Amino acid sequence: MKDIACLLITGASSGLGEEFARQLAHRCETMVLVARRGDRLTTLAGELVREYGVQVRCFEADLSISAQRNQLAAALAEKKLHPDCLINNAGIGDYGTFADASWEKLETMMRLNMEGLTHLCHLILPDMISRQHGSIINISSLASILPIPDFAVYAATKAFVSSFSEALRIELKECCINVLAVCPGPVHTEFGKVAARVQGQDFDGMREWFYVDKEQVVSEAIMAMDARNARVYPGWKIALAAAGISLLPLAVLRLIMSTRPRKSA
Ligand SMILES: NC(=O)c1ccc[n+]([C@@H]2O[C@H](COP(=O)([O-])OP(=O)(O)OC[C@H]3O[C@@H](n4cnc5c(N)ncnc54)[C@H](OP(=O)(O)O)[C@@H]3O)[C@@H](O)[C@H]2O)c1
Repeated sequence: MKDIACLLITGASSGLGEEFARQLAHRCETMVLVARRGDRLTTLAGELVREYGVQVRCFEADLSISAQRNQLAAALAEKKLHPDCLINNAGIGDYGTFADASWEKLETMMRLNMEGLTHLCHLILPDMISRQHGSIINISSLASILPIPDFAVYAATKAFVSSFSEALRIELKECCINVLAVCPGPVHTEFGKVAARVQGQDFDGMREWFYVDKEQVVSEAIMAMDARNARVYPGWKIALAAAGISLLPLAVLRLIMSTRPRKSA
């Protein structure tokens, strides 16, 4: 059943974005894959075309740069591609204390995780609204409900994503456009390597228990999109942790976070 006319996925060159492309290819007439590493996108596109007979367009773009987001939107318009499903997935993290961070990396992260995601919604929405049809999936994080020392700016960018998604969802309800915030806990992708400040930087081993497979994260996200849900915490352990966190008084949360769960080993 091809129920998605045009799906746009950002950050499709690895991790969750690539997995979304694989799991949704059979439902799409056309897919638009976006990331900086065009060679990876082309390889993935080849596989998806062969396996699912879907049309795939690849766009190389650095979504932390406003001009490149505008160029992407212009290219979509020129090729008459009108996404009815947008997966705002591209994002990076930065592990370590705030004071020691590289400002360049923090700035890029804020531009990508918040500004890029918001700008793409703004660029794509008018078309969805005129068709009174569409779906937006914003990839947030369990970190969006936790102020996390040693991951402070990343967690704050994801708090923005969850808050923005909730409000946007209400604004768009009358237009039959669903907005979903996906809030994964830790997942093995390239994320950890990109977030690390030094090669091989590692974290408290007890967190390993919390990891959820990317396949499960994406399949639960797709189920939540189909159910037109507002938010999903994929994996029962993560869902349980989220429920627990939401019940805790801030003072208790502060005590727990003062153990520095993200401090590098
Ligand atoms: N993995 C986790 O533990 C975890 C947990 C919660 C939430 N998340 C969120 O999940 C999303 C996907 O991350 P992932 O875990 O799949 O990590 P990943 O494997 O590192 O994938 C990140 C994707 O974002 C793209 N990207 C990075 N910088 C970009 C830029 N400037 N412009 C365009 N694309 C860019 C990367 O492609 P290029 O490098 O080719 O540009 C890549 O395709 C992120 O929003 C992340 O915050 C991850």
